[in-house]
Amino acid sequence: MANYRIATIEGDGIGPEVAQATISVLKAACGENKLDFQMFDGGAGHYVKTGHVLPDDTFAACRDLDAILHGAAGLPGVVYPDGTEVGNDLHLRLRFRLDLYANVRPVKLLPGVLSPLRAFENGGIDYVIIRENTEGLYASRGAGVLLRDEFASDSLVVTRKGTERVAKFAFELSRKRNGAPRDGKRRVTVCDKANILRSYAFFRAVCDDVHAAYPDIEIDYAYADAITVHMVKRPDFYDVIVAENMFGDIISDLGAATVGGMGISPSGEIGDGHALFQGAHGSAPDIAGQNLASPVATILSGVMMLRWLAERHGDDTLSDAANRIETAVGTVLSKGLAVPRDLGGKASCTEVTDAICRAMK
Ligand code: IPM
Ligand code: MN
Repeated sequence: MANYRIATIEGDGIGPEVAQATISVLKAACGENKLDFQMFDGGAGHYVKTGHVLPDDTFAACRDLDAILHGAAGLPGVVYPDGTEVGNDLHLRLRFRLDLYANVRPVKLLPGVLSPLRAFENGGIDYVIIRENTEGLYASRGAGVLLRDEFASDSLVVTRKGTERVAKFAFELSRKRNGAPRDGKRRVTVCDKANILRSYAFFRAVCDDVHAAYPDIEIDYAYADAITVHMVKRPDFYDVIVAENMFGDIISDLGAATVGGMGISPSGEIGDGHALFQGAHGSAPDIAGQNLASPVATILSGVMMLRWLAERHGDDTLSDAANRIETAVGTVLSKGLAVPRDLGGKASCTEVTDAICRAMK
């Protein structure tokens, strides 16, 4: 009898390949029966066939099962009449309807992975971006103003509740970590443009209010433009960064680029009762179905899923399995046993997957 039921949406492009690779690794680590991966439709391809990007049965499973594992969504040219992409709507509908308010984007340079930031190898880059995931500029998705073909506008929404809960998530996470690589200090950096816009000044003020309950953690501030420089020049200064939705979307890709790229970058979109785990990359339709995709980002997202389930259910067997997978990924990459193409190697999706499974034995 499986202990945990996982709503699995393979999605579009490379989604099926990286999702199946992750299922193989998670089963190898947890045993065949611990996790029951139940497959559901969703994404741009499904929309083309049926007109539904997120079918009702898929949403019900995401709402009712224990966690959500997603491959990728989106196909070029599959857009709504207003020009926005259909595939992205899968994520966005799940984020807003399940209230997945903390988008957790770890930025960690793994041993053996080359960074464009030469001076920070060997543990020099290890921070987490907490992106507010249910409001900010995204609150306007599908609600912006389109006036004839001469005016368009979207509003930036910042609420006290939305900011309080994501800031609390960031401070709680920092409390569980070991501080920034540079100085070991537990630090939450608030990323905003409080110098220019009242909504960001409000975001910062609410983060300050939340900080009052965490005197053991340093609060730091960085404007969204300035932080892009700091993430390149002194990434070791960061422990946890909290940002509004759009800024978090942008800086998390920059962070990913400093530690090997989107193919190695995981994400967890976490609310109070639900969580979705997926690689931070897209559906890469140009390499779909050719066994070329790197499964590493989705596998590391699976590690995040196991740790979230372990904490939620008090199940140490899952956190042990997560640690074994993470160690195996580090071994495979640091020893060059199977290096995916995006990291300079030639290993196929299955070769990387099999090497990680072997490294766990
Ligand atoms: C991300 C992606 C999504 C976003 C898209 C796919 C909806 O860019 O998760 O970073 O814009 O948030
Ligand atoms: Mn993005």
